[in-house]
Amino acid sequence: MYDLIVLGGGPAGYLAAERAGSAGLSVLLIEKRSLGGVCLNEGCIPSKALLHCAKVFDYTKHADQYGIKVADSQIDHKAVVERKNKVVKTLVAGVQSLMKAKKVTVINDTGIITGRNTVKVSDTEYEGRYLIVCTGSEPIIPPIPGVKEGLKSGMIVTNREILDLESVPKNLVIIGGGVIGLEMASYFNSVGSAVTVIEMLPNIAGPTDREISSILLKNYTAKGISFKTGCRVTKVTEDSVVYESEGKEYSAPADKVLLSVGRRPCTEGIGLEAAGVYCEKGAIVTDKRCLTNIPNIYAAGDVNGRSMLAHTAYREAEVAVNNILGKKDIMRYNAIPSVIYTNPEVASVGETQESAEKAGLDFEAFVMPMMYSGRYVAENMSGDGICKIIVDKKTKTLLGAHLIGNYASEIIYGAGLMIEMQMRIDDIKELVFPHPTVCEIIRETIFAVH
Ligand code: NAI
Repeated sequence: MYDLIVLGGGPAGYLAAERAGSAGLSVLLIEKRSLGGVCLNEGCIPSKALLHCAKVFDYTKHADQYGIKVADSQIDHKAVVERKNKVVKTLVAGVQSLMKAKKVTVINDTGIITGRNTVKVSDTEYEGRYLIVCTGSEPIIPPIPGVKEGLKSGMIVTNREILDLESVPKNLVIIGGGVIGLEMASYFNSVGSAVTVIEMLPNIAGPTDREISSILLKNYTAKGISFKTGCRVTKVTEDSVVYESEGKEYSAPADKVLLSVGRRPCTEGIGLEAAGVYCEKGAIVTDKRCLTNIPNIYAAGDVNGRSMLAHTAYREAEVAVNNILGKKDIMRYNAIPSVIYTNPEVASVGETQESAEKAGLDFEAFVMPMMYSGRYVAENMSGDGICKIIVDKKTKTLLGAHLIGNYASEIIYGAGLMIEMQMRIDDIKELVFPHPTVCEIIRETIFAVH
């Protein structure tokens, strides 16, 4: 009997196993594919490896703006993918050795829950005092005519296969202008594809602050990406994507199609019924302790359908393990940052202007151009980046912060901290920021609050 069985070895699963192992629990981790899950193998990390290469390439293309002559810069997509594979291999090996160091038993196979304390792998049943379900999520495949066939032929790909394309498609059509769609649009636009993004909603980047998603749209339209917002895809053929807008039908030529219309929790076929774990809309229902309706079964990561971000998964895993260890710990979801790694980057935390309005909050928004940061001006030839903060009118605390401009991804945690700690604007004004940095824009915007 193990103290803990963890089903799924992505960010939630391997972190839960690591924390529990560190605390001296005997842990069994079951993963059917590769340790690291979607994040390490086919999500966050590989996409960032590709995007970094695209950014370097973009710099070489515009090097003359910085007084540098680059004769003939070219990108070797195959070499980029090879480098990406090396990055993934290194990090997966890192997780493997971490599991070894924490004395976690790892089984590389499919596990099926057979009861409240049991998980079966092939013919062997393993027992655990506690169970944490960390089976993650998978791409949503919408019932659009031609999609099934396209996936079969390889003309349509998801976030997994797009990272391993052997060559750069001439015409890439992306269905869904959310995080995955935009990051991949960014990479393939940089490396030479003609990219079309078809998005059902009137705006791209989902719940991102509207002003910021409009700036992103403007930037990428200028770079040559064609956005079709408010459009519904009706059919995918062998060489095109057919979509409809205001009653008219259009067609976009495609030799590859990326399907990125969202992800759904992996709750089917893993035996949740055998243990009586309660699900709603296909996601495991958990409380603030990440506990399911079964007193010894927890769930962490995308499988609970709440925030679907690797860093949320890490924290949920920690909360679950702490509760198993008898320590009081709960999840708070109001200060979880999110980033879109486009060029420029977009980063957000907390309430947006739109969500604050919808919730009827008494707030004020303050906006400052990134050009108020000396370092931003020194490093960007031009730039329409902004920082927007949402401030509670009564308590004078920060409710949200939203940035578009490079380094935003590295800056946002500071704003998250201010929200998490419920710092008052006057307290934040007393903080000293390093100079010159782009993060000073937070300070500049805070000082706009009277
Ligand atoms: P998403 O939910 O971000 O975006 C999907 C988009 O597709 C939405 O804008 C939606 O309106 C649109 N859509 C849905 N059905 C459509 C249709 N039939 N035709 C056209 N548009 C349609 O989902 P995405 O991009 O697939 O990402 C999945 C998950 O992965 C997200 O939860 C995201 O947070 C996570 N992720 C996070 C990253 C990051 O933190 N940087 C990077 C990549 C993924």
